[in-house]
Amino acid sequence: MAFPERFSNLPDYAFPRLRKLLDAHAPGGEPIAMTIGEPRHAMPEFVGPILAANLSGFGVYPPNDGTPELLAAISAWIDRRYGVTVPDDRLMVLNGTREGLFNACIALCPETKGGKRPVVLMPNPFYQVYAVAALAVGAEPVYVPATAATGFLPDYGSLPPEVLDRVALADICSPANPQGAVASADYLADLLALAEKHDFTVLADECYSEIWRKAPPPGLLQVAAAQGADPERVAVFHSLSKRSNLPGLRSGFVAAGPESMKRIRQLRSFAGAPLPLPLQRVAEAAWADEGHVAASRALYQAKFADADRIFAGVQGYKAPDGGFFLWLPVEDGEAAALKLWRETGVRVLPGAYLSRDVGGPNGTDNPGAGYIRVALVATPEETQRGLTMLRDCIYG
Ligand SMILES: Cc1ncc(COP(=O)(O)O)c(C=O)c1O
Repeated sequence: MAFPERFSNLPDYAFPRLRKLLDAHAPGGEPIAMTIGEPRHAMPEFVGPILAANLSGFGVYPPNDGTPELLAAISAWIDRRYGVTVPDDRLMVLNGTREGLFNACIALCPETKGGKRPVVLMPNPFYQVYAVAALAVGAEPVYVPATAATGFLPDYGSLPPEVLDRVALADICSPANPQGAVASADYLADLLALAEKHDFTVLADECYSEIWRKAPPPGLLQVAAAQGADPERVAVFHSLSKRSNLPGLRSGFVAAGPESMKRIRQLRSFAGAPLPLPLQRVAEAAWADEGHVAASRALYQAKFADADRIFAGVQGYKAPDGGFFLWLPVEDGEAAALKLWRETGVRVLPGAYLSRDVGGPNGTDNPGAGYIRVALVATPEETQRGLTMLRDCIYG
């Protein structure tokens, strides 16, 4: 029996890989999970009552693109957050950004560009769906280092023009998972100019946009509007998973240009799994409320302040500007994760599980290899305990 070759070079997903690395070894203490980016702050109180009041909605097929009320709530949120008006017909509800990013690539990536195989740009390290989406459409994923040397964001403008001319889509994540870097308005403006010059669309993964330390990160919709950019240059993805501590709700949205949206919608109407109606009602309330978001953000900010204190003086420690991860420099990420687990029970992810080898002089040039990713998702007390053990074990 024949199977597709296009996914045959994919590494195992990060978490099974981690289990393989650690689970044969006993933890050195009460386990503390700092691996997965699953928010553990309280979900908003209104979730249960709204769900209960809308149970009958499970008895009908939900509207594919989102209820008018949910689309209006999203549009109002974008207006409040970014000062930009995005009409309902340029918005579509998603079951979280992961499927949205995957399906947008299918809907928007052409078979060829200028007669050649199209390229999808992505930062390295990166959220893994970007690569699998590119492979799914037969595009070439190009992994662009997002390291300390580039401010932990990819420098797409440094690529050779012959590569840039083949680019159909470019993924960007701000605040970035895993590094916590925030793209400035200037960075985003330059990226849009590059997209215009080389005729590609930017897929902006902004699912951590509401978790920031000092100031709300700029968004691509806002920068595109200020620049008067062609709306087709931009598809922006947001989610309630991190913003509202609702990763299980599977709810987000995409905002894109009219032609792009037509294609995204068309694909979804044939093959999409729309968000169940009761969940759309919950999502509507979540986008309309900022109180729970501010409370959750304050908890993250307190944990980041703890991290700054705990890692003060550790060489290479960089306080993240947003998101909820620490991206800590170590000699070897796998060795550090294993040592930490065996000696303390603290569980973190080796950076190399989120990044790709991109050749280099000895074929092992992996920009994540010298890092561990630490998720600050537990309570402040547990997080503090975990980080203190980590510091003493790895940097002590
Ligand atoms: C960078 C990034 N993008 C997208 C997602 C997917 O989030 P969701 O599908 O829950 O919106 C995640 C989840 O961890 C993420 O870290």
